[in-house]
Amino acid sequence: MAALLKPIAKFGYTVQTPKPQISRFVRVSATAAAAAPTGKKKKYQKQEIKETLLTPRFYTTDFDEMEQLFNTEINRNLNMAEFEALLQEFKTDFNQTHFVRDKEFKEAADKLQGPLRQIFVEFLERSCTAEFSGFLLYKELGRRLKKTNPVVAEIFSLMSRDEARHAGFLNKGLTDFNLALDLGFLTKARKYTFFKPKFIFYATYLSEKIGYWRYITIYRHLKQNPEFQCYPIFKYFENWCQDENRHGDFFSALMKAQPQFLNDWKAKLWARFFCLSVYVTMYLNDCQRSAFYEGIGLDTKEFDMHVIIETNRTTARIFPAVLDVENPEFKRKLDRMADINQQILALGESEDIPFVKNLKRLPLVAALVSELLAAYLMKPVESGSLELAEFEPQVVY
Ligand SMILES: [Fe+2]
Ligand SMILES: [Fe+2]
Repeated sequence: MAALLKPIAKFGYTVQTPKPQISRFVRVSATAAAAAPTGKKKKYQKQEIKETLLTPRFYTTDFDEMEQLFNTEINRNLNMAEFEALLQEFKTDFNQTHFVRDKEFKEAADKLQGPLRQIFVEFLERSCTAEFSGFLLYKELGRRLKKTNPVVAEIFSLMSRDEARHAGFLNKGLTDFNLALDLGFLTKARKYTFFKPKFIFYATYLSEKIGYWRYITIYRHLKQNPEFQCYPIFKYFENWCQDENRHGDFFSALMKAQPQFLNDWKAKLWARFFCLSVYVTMYLNDCQRSAFYEGIGLDTKEFDMHVIIETNRTTARIFPAVLDVENPEFKRKLDRMADINQQILALGESEDIPFVKNLKRLPLVAALVSELLAAYLMKPVESGSLELAEFEPQVVY
C-alpha cells in the first residue's frame, strides 16, 4: 500500500541520547547495540497505543464476502483475461533488483542532526507502517481467495511481496538511525479497522494512487533540486511509485468487475466520502509535519494540493463522483481545517486540567466537523464512466 498516510510512533532514541525514551506505540528493537550504554541489545516494552482520528490503520475485511465477489461462477463481470494479463505483469517483477542499498545511506543519516533527524525518523517509521499495513491485508487476501479465484489471489500475493519489499527497505533505513520497527509485534499489537469489501476497494485504490503521486512528486522535485537530496531513499521513488501505480490499477480493475459498487447514488456518496477522508487526513497530517517537507525544500501545502489534484484527476477515471478539489473554496476549507487542528493540538499541549481542555475542545471539534461537512456538500464533479474507465496499465507520468 502506498506510504506516508499512516503514522505510528515517536522514537526518542538516538546515538546522541543514550538514555532511550520509550516509544509511545510500539516496541522498538534498538539495533545499535554498540551505542547502548550497557552494550546489550535492548527491547523496549510496548506502551499503550494511543489512537486518534489521524492515526493510520491496519485493515481487515469480510473475507467470506470477498470470496463471493471473486467467484467466477457467481460474478459474470469478472474479466479473467484482464486479470491474467495483470498477473503476468506482476510476475515480471520489474523492481526485483531495484531495492539495493549502498553506503550513502548511513553516511547521509549520520549527517542529519537536530530536529530534522527526528522528523526523518518519523517519516521512515510512518511510511514503513503504511507499507506494512498493505502487506498484511494483501497477504491475507491472497491466502483467502486461493480456492475461489487463484488468479486474483496470486496478484494479491505478489502485491504483498511488493509491500513487504517497500516496508523492509524503509525499516532498513531506520537502521541507519540505529532503530528498527518490530513489525511482528506491530502485527499483533495494532488495532485492525474493519471495512466491508466495497470500502476496502475505495480506500485502498485511493491510498495506492495518492501514494503514487506523493512519491513521484517528491522524486521529480528532488531531481530538479538536488541540493535538498539529504537522504538517498528518495532516489528510489521513481521505480517504487510504479509499484503503487500498478497496485492502484489492479484495484481499478477489481472495481470494474463489481459495477454495483460504482453505478448508483450510494456509490457516489461513498466515493466522495472516501476522497474527502483521504485528502483531509493527508493535509492535516502533513501540516503537522511541515518541517519535514520544508527540510526537503517543498512547500507543504503546495505539495499536498498538487498531490490531491492529481490523485483526484486519476480517481475521476473510475469513481462515479469526486470532489471539486480544483475549486479554490476547497483549499480554503482545508486550510481552515488545518488551523482548527493546530488549535486542537495546542490545547492538548496546554497546562489546563482535562475537564477544561475538553470544554475548550468542544467548539473546535464542532467547527472542524462543520468545515468537513461543508467540504463534503460542495457541488461534486460527476465522473468515472465504466465504459471510459478502461484498464490502462500505463506509466502515468
Ligand atoms: Fe508500497
Ligand atoms: Fe502499494
